[in-house]
This record gives sequence, structure tokens and C-alpha cells, in this order.
Amino acid sequence: MQWKASCLALLITASLTVTPAIAKQSADSIAPEAVTGLKTQTLEQGSDWMIASANPYASEAGAAMLRQGGNAIDAMVATQLVLGLVEPQSSGIGGGAFLMYWDAKKEALTSFDGRETAPYGVTPRLFQDDKGEPLQFFDAVVGGRSVGTPGTVKLLQHTHQRLGKLPWKALFEPALNLAKNGFIVSPRLAKLVANDQDYLQRSAEAKAYFFNQDGSPIKAGQNLKNPAYADTLTLIADQGASAFYHGKIANDIVKTVRGAKANPGVLNTMDLATYQVKEREPVCAPYRQYSICGMGPPSSGALTLGQIMGMLSHYPIAEMGPENIQSWRLLGDASRLAFADRGKYMADSDYVPMPTEGLLAADYIEQRATLLKGDTALATTAAGKPPWSHAMNYALDEAIELPSTSHFSIVDKDRNMVSITTTIENGFGSRLMVRGFLLNNELTDFSFRSHADGVPIANRIEPGKRPRSSMAPTIVMKEGEPYMAVGSPGGSQIIGYVAKTLVAHLDWGLNLQQAINLPNMNNRFGAFELEQGTTAEQWAPKLEQLGFKVKVKELNSGVQAIRVDGKSLTGAADPRREGKVIAQ
Ligand code: GLY
Repeated sequence: MQWKASCLALLITASLTVTPAIAKQSADSIAPEAVTGLKTQTLEQGSDWMIASANPYASEAGAAMLRQGGNAIDAMVATQLVLGLVEPQSSGIGGGAFLMYWDAKKEALTSFDGRETAPYGVTPRLFQDDKGEPLQFFDAVVGGRSVGTPGTVKLLQHTHQRLGKLPWKALFEPALNLAKNGFIVSPRLAKLVANDQDYLQRSAEAKAYFFNQDGSPIKAGQNLKNPAYADTLTLIADQGASAFYHGKIANDIVKTVRGAKANPGVLNTMDLATYQVKEREPVCAPYRQYSICGMGPPSSGALTLGQIMGMLSHYPIAEMGPENIQSWRLLGDASRLAFADRGKYMADSDYVPMPTEGLLAADYIEQRATLLKGDTALATTAAGKPPWSHAMNYALDEAIELPSTSHFSIVDKDRNMVSITTTIENGFGSRLMVRGFLLNNELTDFSFRSHADGVPIANRIEPGKRPRSSMAPTIVMKEGEPYMAVGSPGGSQIIGYVAKTLVAHLDWGLNLQQAINLPNMNNRFGAFELEQGTTAEQWAPKLEQLGFKVKVKELNSGVQAIRVDGKSLTGAADPRREGKVIAQ
């Protein structure tokens, strides 16, 4: 699949360039300390290969494959298997993932969809009470009802069979070793277990694993073994993904989901047996000299990010810089406009008609960008009318997506590039644990209502459908070559975290570490959210003067990014989490 031919690269002409009445500022004048209140991480350099993931054990597993001569796909498999052990709250073999991949030899960019699917047995009322009203979020999440058919194991095998170099079994060694001999529990994992005791203890296996014999939650620094996970991995290493999707493991998954006492689900062995990974054309949006490519439907990631960047491309945001409130107004309101379209139009396009091309059409983006030409907050934001031959009317989606998930980026010595965002949805997913891994709650990424006032919601639940995601694994292309791999966890905040990192690096000239560290400021639905404990808080009065509502809160991104610049690689991990970059 040739990138140039296949991308939905919809050219935005830069004919509309609106200059708000603001002082211009050079990016050179910005001291990184002035824009971050966060502890620092070091920008890493390399030349042969590089991996950046959310956990040092996981990065080390990927690095071990690269040192042995493995490629980016081999490293990806080993990294994911370890993440499922050491960062089990975020992703794992009980979940799903989206992969963006640059194949250096073929000079082709493609994307793989390992998203969970809704079981065939779901009905539109799955997340509604007897009166047809939506359930409370956690009443839906905890238990079997929210569990979708996991896609990650098939994604790993499918891509390894096509693109990997090392033997499949070799990729399991780091995870098997850690699961058998133990790993040191990180402060973040310990804190999250302590905060989630009530829900986690509802699953007997999760209770036994995440709590000590005296009932106390596992502590940071404790050595934790997971023999059940080791057994599961051994079966998959020996027999391939079919050991997961058929037979003992599949039966146990189904038994756990359907047998969940308070909240049983409908997953069946047929759902697992028929699960398929889909290779999809990436969605690319032009941005100045770059093309920003990512995961199309069922993810809203690339379309929403592409809309934001497309609108910004009509403004001189590079000269405006990060210390100009108008830069943040533009980012915030471009994001609000894009989220309005996301809420109405974006879902699994294999199931519902979607104006995928229209949402990034140059004229349409220009029209939406024009709405931003004032210098105060937009009074309201409504979805637009992208060009679309279809006459479908949709009601607004109401899916709640709380922060979760993990992102990692890899570049190998042949310059293959991996940008993968991976999840079990909420922290610890459904909280159901089976055979050493947690099961996702991805189905709560669907809208709980199927219709509003009789009008269908695009992201309603249907058998076999993939829930809409915000995951935005991104590969930035420059002059036909991959320039940068980037992505983040964070539920629907993901899109804003990636947009901020891109603007900070591509426009404001911050290096990757500074760009990631730059305090997060997101606006999805009206309120401007400012990252607590950082210099972002200082913007509150100015944003309020512009007419925004402001909320100061934890904005816990986890961006892991790598940039390729000729022979040199630079990479950075987000200091808000426990990430690590390893390079050679
Ligand atoms: N469950 C997080 C996402 O898919 O965006």
C-alpha cells in the first residue's frame, strides 16, 4: 500500500490566513522552564534504533529484540507483552490496539485495526436500565457487560507473521521471564491499585493478584510474580494466537464474562473464534510541509486531530508562540469545533455511513477555520455540514471516555516505524481478570443511548461493531518520509495531547521533550481544561476574560515520541508517567 497513492491526503489550500490582533513572538525566546512546571526527563539521542514506551521494563523488552537484530514489529510484540504485565491497568492481551506502521522497504504507510468488537449477542439496550435510561458509567464498566472481543493478540500475530523477523517464541522471553521471576511494582501501579480497591476486589482473580494475603494492596517496590500470565503466554508462544481465540483460554474468558455475578456479559466463543484484524488505509491531513497520518474509523483520532491541525494551518500560530493566549484560544476552539463533528459523525464506518473524506475536505476545513477569526471564545460550537453524498442524520453521541491506555513508538535500524496506541479502556478495564490478564471494558466507548429523540446515534452499539475510539497513534510524514511517531493515552483527551505536542514541536520549535512537558490545555466540549500544578493554571484569568469556562484538573498525558532526522533519532517520554526511551 503506497502511502502517496493510498492516503486520504485531502489538500487544504492555505488561501485563508487570518491574523488575529495579537503580538507576535518568536519561538526562540521561549525558555523551556518558563512553560513547564513538571519534573524533567532527558531528550534521548540515537542513531541505529529507538524505543519509547510507558514503562522501563517494556522499553527494555523491545530494546532486547532490536539488539538481537529484530525489527520494529518484533520489538512491538515483546513490548506489548511486557506492558500487559507491568502496566496492566492500561493495556494488555485482554484489550485492543491500533497500529500505524511505516514499512521502509516498501516505502508504504499502513494502519492495522486490532480494536475490540461488540459480541454478536448485544442489543441496543445493553447499557440502559429497565426504563431505557443510560446506566451510570461504572455500573456499566465493572463486570462482564462491558467486555468486547479482544483484538490485541491477533494484531500481534497478524503483523508479526507479515512483517516480523525474529521467531515468534523469542518475542515472549522478556515477558515470560518477568512473569515467572517477578517484576518490581512501580509507584504508579501501586497507587492506582490502592485507589481502585473496591472495584478490583469484585473479581476473585484480581483480588488474589493485586492484594497481599493480609488484604493490603500491592506496594511500590514489591516483587510481583504472575504465574498465570506466564502459563497463558506459554500457550500463545507455542500455539500462536489460536490458543487465545479457541480452546481453554477462550472458554475461560467467556466463562468469566458470562459468569460475572453482578453484571454478566454476553461474549461468546463464536465472537472470539471469528475475530479479525483489519488493515486500513491511514487517514492523512496536510499540515504546512507535513502530512499528519493516523488511524481512521473506528477511531476518531486521525480525523479529529486532522481537523484541528487543518483549522490551525489557516493561522500564523508558529509566530504567535506558546506564550500568546490567542494560540491557546485557537487550539481550544479548533478542538471544540472538531469535537462537535466527532460527536455527530464519527463511528465504525464498516457499520454506519460516515463522511470520512468530507470531514477533512479543504473547503470544509477552511469554512470551519473561518469561525475562529475573532479573538474571543466561540459562544457555541455545533457540528458542521461536511460534504457528503449521504443524507444520514445523526444525533450527538454521549459516550464517556475516561483517561486510560498506553502509547509506544519504535524506529528500527532499517527505519521501519511503529506508532501504536493500546488499551483495555478504563484503568484496569472491566476489572475482570482471567489467566493472569485483565479483560477490557471497551464496549463502554459506545454511546449508551442508541437514539436521541428518535434520531440514531452513529456510535450506537451493534453486534460485531467496533466502538469509536479517540486513540491517535500518529506518524508525521515530511517530504514523503516518516518524520515522527507520536501518540498518547488519555481517553478523549488523547487528541488534545497529541495536537499540543505537534504544535509545540512543529510550530514553536520546542524539542520533543519540551513539547511533551509543555503543560496540557485541552478543550473538547466547552470548558478549557488546564493542567493542575503547572504554569497552565496561570492562563485561567486570561481565558476567562476571553469568555471560556475554565477547569483546573489533572491532565495526565503519556506521550511517547520519536523523531527521525537523517541519521539521527531523538526521542522523549512523558514525565507525567513512568516512560523510558532506550536507543542505540
Ligand atoms: N478506550 C480509549 C479509546 O479507545 O480512545
